[in-house]
Amino acid sequence: MKSYFILDCDSDRQQKMADSLYGYYTGITANRELTTFWNNLNRKEIQNYFSIPNLEIKKWFDEQGLKVRDMSFTITNEEIYTVMHKDEPPVIAKINFPVLNTKDTYNVWYDDWGNEIDRIECTNPSVFRSDINHTVEIGPNATYPRLQFSFCFYNEPLHLLK
Ligand SMILES: [Fe+2]
Repeated sequence: MKSYFILDCDSDRQQKMADSLYGYYTGITANRELTTFWNNLNRKEIQNYFSIPNLEIKKWFDEQGLKVRDMSFTITNEEIYTVMHKDEPPVIAKINFPVLNTKDTYNVWYDDWGNEIDRIECTNPSVFRSDINHTVEIGPNATYPRLQFSFCFYNEPLHLLK
């Protein structure tokens, strides 16, 4: 099974979706102190976002036949980061969507002995295998805050990791 699969997405369209997610992020975090790398959105927040008319990312998921189950964002800055971990089951194939400052940042996967098995720069939307050890590595030219959204689905795109 592969660690990731880079999804086909026109760069203007990707920017449009990222801008929309960034706008949403600024709204929901305006009165919230961010202290953790992983931040789940609740049902209501997910519903509110996906009820925005003509939402490009909704069209994009619809085209791929994907039904959103959960939506979260990850934040990295001088104080907040992640270390090697496996995500909670049962989801295996998530979609990561880069929103801000993901250049020179990397998803890196490891085997059970701590040997690196794969890495990608987080600049494209991609299917992400979350049930094996992984982390986010920050390169010397990265800037903060780094923001990425993560989606999981009722019908997870496992076939893209085959
Ligand atoms: Fe993770």
